[in-house]
Amino acid sequence: MTSLLLAFDDEARLARALSDELSVPLALVDRHVFPDGETRLRLPPALPPRVAILRGLQQPNAKLAELLLAAAGARELGAIELRLVSPYLAYMRQDMAFAPGEVVSQRHVGRLLASVFDAVVTVDPHLHRVATMDEVVPGRRGVALSAADLLGALVAERLPGALLLAPDEEAEQWVTRAAVGRGLGHAVCRKQRHGDRDVDVALPDVDVAGRAVVLFDDVASTGRTLVTAARGAFARGAASVDVAVTHALFVGDALAQVRAAGVRHVWSADTVPHETNAVSVAPLVAAALRAI
Ligand code: R5P
Repeated sequence: MTSLLLAFDDEARLARALSDELSVPLALVDRHVFPDGETRLRLPPALPPRVAILRGLQQPNAKLAELLLAAAGARELGAIELRLVSPYLAYMRQDMAFAPGEVVSQRHVGRLLASVFDAVVTVDPHLHRVATMDEVVPGRRGVALSAADLLGALVAERLPGALLLAPDEEAEQWVTRAAVGRGLGHAVCRKQRHGDRDVDVALPDVDVAGRAVVLFDDVASTGRTLVTAARGAFARGAASVDVAVTHALFVGDALAQVRAAGVRHVWSADTVPHETNAVSVAPLVAAALRAI
């Protein structure tokens, strides 16, 4: 059983919900960023043997460095069993060398986390060529939860009978899970990526005319996937287009672009703190921590 939850102030909302669910105390890590970008962390000076650290890895590079410092510090201060809850786990997409010489970041970030944590719990990691989180953190316990049911239930309540569209084949797993048993239709688009902000999305051969379409994906980053899919759905006569995503990264002008494409509602899970958060993964994460 975890007996203390450590978290950072920018994720305090989810941290409080999780500490309530687990009925364990929460301590926020005191963090100071020096003018040159270095970070000084201060943890409670005496830690119990079983500690969980909550840290999502949006803006991954700075947070990874902080997380490694926090984990090392926690061990020195008494933590014997140390678990990571990383609701959004970055670096999962680079899971093979797509060109000679490319570093397979997923493998190395996974090994790095396995070297400092006893278990890693995450939500909807972008696993494609690797089947389980156990493989990502070799020798340690890896748990992949999904927000698809939470988001599917929300859509079914707000828009009964809506058509869920996965913008690419990789999202088929989530859209199927969200739709089945909830009276929602689902179909899968085909996506071709030409660059960071340049994608083509071909809609499937289903009739979207007059229907409430919900684009359903694991992550929105630049938002260009959603923009292109939304435009395609409107061009085919969709009555409305809404969006449900687990991880609302929405970098830069992404949300504005999505709204400019005519998207009405954007719903996300609270894995990444964002104004669109509509469902909480705290109960799921708490249950997973209890079960480990
Ligand atoms: C990739 O396959 C993911 O499922 C998302 O579709 C993708 O990361 C979204 O990226 P963006 O918002 O930059 O188009």
